[in-house]
Amino acid sequence: MPNYSSMHKEELQREFDALTQEYEGYKEQKLSLNMSRGKPATNQMDLTMPMLTCLDPDDMLFAGGMDARNYGALEGIPEARKLLADLMGLQPEEVLVCGSSSLNTMFDLVTHAYTHGVYGGSEPWMNCPHPKFLCPVPGYDRHFRITEYYHIDMIPIPMHEDGPDMELVEQYVNHDPFVKGIWCVPKYSNPQGITYSDEVVRRFAALKPAADDFRIFWDNAYLVHDLYEDDHDELLNIMDECRKLGSEDMVYEFFSTSKISFAGAGIAGVGASLPNIKFITKQFGVETIGWNKLNMLLHVRFFKDANGVYEHMKKHAKILRPKFETVLRILDENLTDLAEWTKPKGGYFIALITQNGCAKRTIDLCKSVGLTLTDAGAAFPYGHDLLDNTIRIAPTSVSVEELEEATEVLCLCTKIAVVEKLLAECEA
Ligand SMILES: Cc1ncc(COP(=O)(O)O)c(C=O)c1O
Repeated sequence: MPNYSSMHKEELQREFDALTQEYEGYKEQKLSLNMSRGKPATNQMDLTMPMLTCLDPDDMLFAGGMDARNYGALEGIPEARKLLADLMGLQPEEVLVCGSSSLNTMFDLVTHAYTHGVYGGSEPWMNCPHPKFLCPVPGYDRHFRITEYYHIDMIPIPMHEDGPDMELVEQYVNHDPFVKGIWCVPKYSNPQGITYSDEVVRRFAALKPAADDFRIFWDNAYLVHDLYEDDHDELLNIMDECRKLGSEDMVYEFFSTSKISFAGAGIAGVGASLPNIKFITKQFGVETIGWNKLNMLLHVRFFKDANGVYEHMKKHAKILRPKFETVLRILDENLTDLAEWTKPKGGYFIALITQNGCAKRTIDLCKSVGLTLTDAGAAFPYGHDLLDNTIRIAPTSVSVEELEEATEVLCLCTKIAVVEKLLAECEA
């Protein structure tokens, strides 16, 4: 591995010429590779196809004897509430199964809070002169889009290896009544794959918000998405910690089977305290008579119980493991000392941290040669990656062979961006 930082200008120029020549070679190949979105691969979705034929037309009743084909059960069918509750470590009454997208549920809850307020809150968020949300960064771009949509000020909070900077979180939440919420992906976070430590979860539970309508949006999208059976992260159950302190009304927990069964066609739920559940059930009752219970029935008949989901996820892990390992191996071979990256034990992403000022250039170089990555800055509120150093790698939907090529291209472009930067510094 050449040590670029110790090279003088002529050496750097020679290196640049060699890298550019390699880059031109890729250009001729007219590649069409995409590592931009965290989508399941086709063979992952194939695993769930038997679900589509597992309903018996003569057995459409769910617990309590109601017909899944008809209106009713706004909270979701009891079997589906129990399935999601068992996965989330909650009681079935603490879970609403609502639709097929957790992002949609988050949007709905922000909307209801904004226009009509939350349980225990004195006013709708929109009555606050400057409602604010804390946004651990890098984070999930679609979370940020929701708060941006409502013109809620987004405050970036740096992520550490064990979760968000809790000192900063406590400072804001406990002292600023305009802070109404925080976005969290507590296990295998998007995009770093970080799992919050026990201490961080306990500090979340111990928050004493200055606002009476503050909510933690605990998006547990990757709760069961371990890559390794015998080496995976454990996340403390935030609701258990909150119960010890009487702070459970502060949390909305989200989960979906989008990356377990079918993306955008799974079942999604929100977990919360009983008073919250009662309050938001009323709000949801304005927007729908009830969600898709046939889909809930499909899911409970197919998976049967939480163990069914765990077993199913082992099959996903078998498909995904070699993909993550391929990317990590090629990064290791090419970028040691030039960049840093996360090594997640689960989830859907790897974060590549380039030298400052090199992420956008790297992504643009990749694009020009046929490799699409998530837009530069996407993992930051308003698209502003101030250090311009974060690249999200989404390896799941690409084949191992394509991943090899894509990661080689990414490494090459990262090197070019670094050498260009060093050459520019020589000029300066
Ligand atoms: C952290 C996180 N939350 C939510 C979602 C979307 O979930 P759903 O399909 O349930 O809306 C994603 C999808 O990538 C995600 O990464």
